[in-house]
Amino acid sequence: MSGLARSIVVNIVVVFIAAFILPGADPVWAAGKIHQKAYGTTSDGKAVDEYMLTNANGVEVKIITFGGIVTSIKVPDRNGNMANVVLGLTDLKSYDTMNPYFGAIIGRYGNRIAKGKFTLEGQEYTLATNNGPNSLHGGNVGFDKKIWAATEIKDASGVGLSLTYTSPDMEEGYPGALSVKVVYTLTDKNELKIDYTATTDKATVLNLTNHSYFNLGGEGSGPIYDEVLWMAADKITPVDSTLIPTGALAPVAGTAFDFTVPKVLGPAIHSNDPQVVIGKGIDHNFVLTRPSADGKTMVLAARLYDPWSGRMLETWTTEPGVQVYTGNFLDGSLYGPSGRSYRQGAAITFETQHFPDSPNQPSFPTTELKPGKILRSSTVYKFLVD
Ligand code: BGC
Repeated sequence: MSGLARSIVVNIVVVFIAAFILPGADPVWAAGKIHQKAYGTTSDGKAVDEYMLTNANGVEVKIITFGGIVTSIKVPDRNGNMANVVLGLTDLKSYDTMNPYFGAIIGRYGNRIAKGKFTLEGQEYTLATNNGPNSLHGGNVGFDKKIWAATEIKDASGVGLSLTYTSPDMEEGYPGALSVKVVYTLTDKNELKIDYTATTDKATVLNLTNHSYFNLGGEGSGPIYDEVLWMAADKITPVDSTLIPTGALAPVAGTAFDFTVPKVLGPAIHSNDPQVVIGKGIDHNFVLTRPSADGKTMVLAARLYDPWSGRMLETWTTEPGVQVYTGNFLDGSLYGPSGRSYRQGAAITFETQHFPDSPNQPSFPTTELKPGKILRSSTVYKFLVD
């Protein structure tokens, strides 16, 4: 080979290595992977994708672009056996027609707004009343039923999925065109991080959350009565018979809601505490004793432990409250990928949030967002074993 030919070959090899091999080995990237595939088509012909995020430890999270729903989270037990620890349904049609918000992004307003009405800047707004006399989880077609635009992310913190949706002015009766971004990140520390940002062009109210139902024994493995809960919350917002906060902050001390020391869930769910009777179990907003001081630093809000599998879940958040819901309205008519039906107590949610009905409760932390401001909120579900 002539000297010229040799130098051309060497240059081609150098360019090839620089272009294709070095970036793949970029040391700032996390070890995780992300795979996309078609999930299905909605009844009105819109394509929905599924993204599977996997981290260095084999933890696997599946998310669909319909509702930004987390359909599956597979984590190890103390012996390394993997199980899916969130309730889900088996296909898109079920998520579209019969989902009690399993895994979904909730918006514009997580939990209830009394009688579907609120007044903002002197103007009264009327929402759909889709839960008895009240509006629940954003109305008839909330964010849990929207198709979100997805972008894959891979950086030093993990692998992720950025989901965006723009809710038009007056959608479901809420003022302002609202641009929402929800970023799910799976880290190599077995954390699923959820970062929410939103902006509006008119004053509005919003309360974004995720509605995953957790069962650390595995979805469909039976009730969570033996799971042990600790909450960093010394008060709840008690509710009336339609599950609307009375406006009081009630101390948990001496009640079924006292999880300031770890306790098994069964006795609390079956207690005759009048608030438990109203909720048919726990369905209450816990007020964090020491919420994030700056709204940016996450605090540990809850720890759930399954003594049988050794799996543990910590919930960290910048939000001031957590709706804990023990699946009280599950009646056995739904079943998930395991093929087993879901009954009352089949799972527990940690819906990190501002308090329910805040637009009608002046003493609660505000849920208003004004033009020019950015709403930021973060939550981490961290999976451990013991
Ligand atoms: C509410 C429950 C409701 C459930 C719907 C929870 O956030 O507090 O009352 O039944 O969502 O799945």
